[in-house]
Amino acid sequence: MRPVVARLKKVSSLKGSNILDIGCGYGALSHVLTKEGARCTGTEIDKNALSFAKRFSSTILKKSRPRLLRVRGELLPFKNNSFDIVVLFDVIEHVGKPSIVLKESQRVLKKNGILYVEFTPYYSLVGHHLYDYAKWPIHILPKKMIKKIVLSKKTNNFFSNKDVWAQFVSLNKLKISNFQKMVSKLQKIEERFIVKYSDIFEINLSFLNYLGRFKDYFTFSFEGLYRKA
Ligand SMILES: C[S@@+](CC[C@H](N)C(=O)[O-])C[C@H]1O[C@@H](n2cnc3c(N)ncnc32)[C@H](O)[C@@H]1O
Repeated sequence: MRPVVARLKKVSSLKGSNILDIGCGYGALSHVLTKEGARCTGTEIDKNALSFAKRFSSTILKKSRPRLLRVRGELLPFKNNSFDIVVLFDVIEHVGKPSIVLKESQRVLKKNGILYVEFTPYYSLVGHHLYDYAKWPIHILPKKMIKKIVLSKKTNNFFSNKDVWAQFVSLNKLKISNFQKMVSKLQKIEERFIVKYSDIFEINLSFLNYLGRFKDYFTFSFEGLYRKA
């Protein structure tokens, strides 16, 4: 969560800002942003994740807490131009209709507002959604084999193998170029093509942007910061 906060702080003040964290999950980022002094709204479609986020919130935050709402990213119940910052952290590749979620995100952003998006490209060969299960690209195997590997693995994760599999098969396979078209009306501040290996090294290879459709293969994680003109 820390790198996201640091990137946002470089382009906008968080204190007093009205921030929307779409697909907030268990609410970790919404809480960190609230602690930084932002007025944060976290939205989530998953009932269980949201109730966890609410319980977490009442346990760890004494004064101000994020507003947590059960809302689909495709249909945001907010007025036009109402947020200073909209965040989609590890979310856009999970939603049913990414282009609609991005349209909605842009609609609710104020003029000069910031959109921050981070996602793992589905077709990445170096980092993918099953990275915790195998450091090699198991997602290119036939589906039956992937399922067997995922369900048979012994893990101590917070999420069960079944949850991980369900999440994997629901990915929308968004490609970086398609995403870039969806935000082309915004002013680009920065795009980062992160390549990393476990926690050992991490580097931003901006030239990957020039590799056309191959950029997805070598990007572990894509990050974009944009401004609404
Ligand atoms: C991988 S999790 C990331 C959660 C959180 N942003 C984080 O980084 O901890 C993706 C989240 O997106 C949520 N999600 C999926 N589709 C959504 C939609 N259409 N609208 C809002 N949230 C959605 C899921 O329920 C899930 O909690």
